[in-house]
Amino acid sequence: MNMETRVAAQTPVFGEGALTSLRAAYPETPCRLDHEMRDHPLLSFEALGKLALSMREVDVEYNRADLPVGIDPVDIPDNGLGIAETLENIESNDSWMVLKFIEQNATYKALLHETLAEIEPAVRAVTGEMMKLEGFIFVSSPGAVTPFHMDPEHNILLQLRGSKVMTVFPVGDDDLTPGTAHEAFHAGGHRNLDWRDEFAARGEPFELAPGQAIYVPVKAPHWVQNGPGTSVSLSITWQSEWAYHEMYAREMNALLRRCGLNPAAPKRFPHPNRAKSFAWRAIDKARRMAGRN
Ligand SMILES: [Fe+2]
Repeated sequence: MNMETRVAAQTPVFGEGALTSLRAAYPETPCRLDHEMRDHPLLSFEALGKLALSMREVDVEYNRADLPVGIDPVDIPDNGLGIAETLENIESNDSWMVLKFIEQNATYKALLHETLAEIEPAVRAVTGEMMKLEGFIFVSSPGAVTPFHMDPEHNILLQLRGSKVMTVFPVGDDDLTPGTAHEAFHAGGHRNLDWRDEFAARGEPFELAPGQAIYVPVKAPHWVQNGPGTSVSLSITWQSEWAYHEMYAREMNALLRRCGLNPAAPKRFPHPNRAKSFAWRAIDKARRMAGRN
């Protein structure tokens, strides 16, 4: 590691102001945070090109990005280009690329862990141990749209280059994310959600410039509109015991629904949702032991 890299790595990414904001919002409210990550050498366009080409193809997803906010996943067209070509011409090819699970690369894993370590005390105080630390890098063309969707983890998205507006919707709104949508999502369905124009007024837009980040709660629906320049963002994510219990409770609900029942939705934090979670895990374990799964 050269001196420049070492100095950059030792500079705190989040200052006291960002940590104070996160403590006030975590884990159920989105909030904007300032960060000091944008000039990090591992996140230059050149470094990202090398990283993309070194990754497993399955972990580099890229699509056309000139899409409507509510597009059905089955209608998303391939951009017809390779990884290198997509990245080299991202300025003009109306594409959206994500490098998934960057922690598979030891250097990027260290970057991810060092950054999350800065917020770990604030997080641990509320939701306990940070689990399943994962990182994603998004590179997208000017004006690109990421359709309405939800993600299963606690997430801080750091804007590194270009600008974007992320519109975040309330968690736990059954109109936006009905129980069946959660259950399909945890059963391996696509992350995109059904969109209705009447939802628009329920969202809160957060403008993100380089040096700004946003904390997004677990499964808070959102969609993203890029600004007029190429955008690069880093997403640092983690799981919590609460998020796992909510997910298992959703899986229990899917089972109950298959039995013809109409189960109540799990509650949001701080309700622990332990009864359904433990019930699901006991049933799932019994089914596995019986060799039926
Ligand atoms: Fe997302």
